[in-house]
Amino acid sequence: MSEHENRSGSRYKSHIIYIFIIVIISGALYYFYDLSKKYLVIINEKTIEAAEQKRGLEELNNKYVNMVSQMEMSENDKLFLINNLNDVMQNYGIKVNEVNELSKAVHIDDELLKKYSKYYFLNENYTPSSTTLINPLYTLNTKEMYILTEIKSKLDNMIINASNEGVKIVIHSGYRSFAEQQKLKAIYIKTYGVSKSNQFSADQGYSEHQLGTTIDIDDGKSGIVLGFEKSTTFTWMQNNAHKYGFIMSYNKGNDYYEYEPWHYRYVGVELATYLHNNNLNFYDLDQKYIDSYKGKIFE
Ligand code: DAL
Ligand code: ZN
Repeated sequence: MSEHENRSGSRYKSHIIYIFIIVIISGALYYFYDLSKKYLVIINEKTIEAAEQKRGLEELNNKYVNMVSQMEMSENDKLFLINNLNDVMQNYGIKVNEVNELSKAVHIDDELLKKYSKYYFLNENYTPSSTTLINPLYTLNTKEMYILTEIKSKLDNMIINASNEGVKIVIHSGYRSFAEQQKLKAIYIKTYGVSKSNQFSADQGYSEHQLGTTIDIDDGKSGIVLGFEKSTTFTWMQNNAHKYGFIMSYNKGNDYYEYEPWHYRYVGVELATYLHNNNLNFYDLDQKYIDSYKGKIFE
């Protein structure tokens, strides 16, 4: 064999070796690529499964806390049950502070998110935990009126921000005790008769005003009448009240009272925003669903 033939033979061999190595490397790369794809799918599935499990547990947790908070037992016993749940949830990777958020719900007055209005009787002895004087600059004829202490800053912010946009809000009525509602209703009955006054005024014990979270307002001109609906204050409230946790309780066509564009109740920013964004009314929601917002009512 000539030297030339020898050289081209060994070049031929080394080409074969190169091709062989490239095929091996490509095969190995493809094998690892395919393997990693399979692992990625498995990891993804596991992540989704874990997230679903966590969500399921959170929902369960929510239901449990709501159930416990509605049970007829002392606050201490309720807390005991909720704290036990905290320990269990930690084992499943649910952050304790999330559970603590929920346990806050136990300390919040159950009545604040209940539906009243010929539907749910608030006890005659019920008084809000604490009320605070509303700034007399915001009330009709600077009359002394009160609001639940926890929501005073929300009310102030709403009125100040409206005012900064050139919109005037004047409060005509805030907290009304059982006795005050009774007196007011008696006056209405004398003037309008029982049947007519039942269309716009709650019996004592059934008024949202007894909660301390409810206000009647106007624009400083219209008064508490249907004409208020045409004011810029009303339009502003429709677009902004939810940002401060307030909703209009009695929409047109509600089952309880005449349309009351002036009557707003505080239900918390989260629930008010949910109602606003979905074009829903508080009284159309299921009470159990409403209660699930209780823990965040003052945020
Ligand atoms: N005007 C409302 C219905 C009330 O009296 O509470
Ligand atoms: Zn009212």
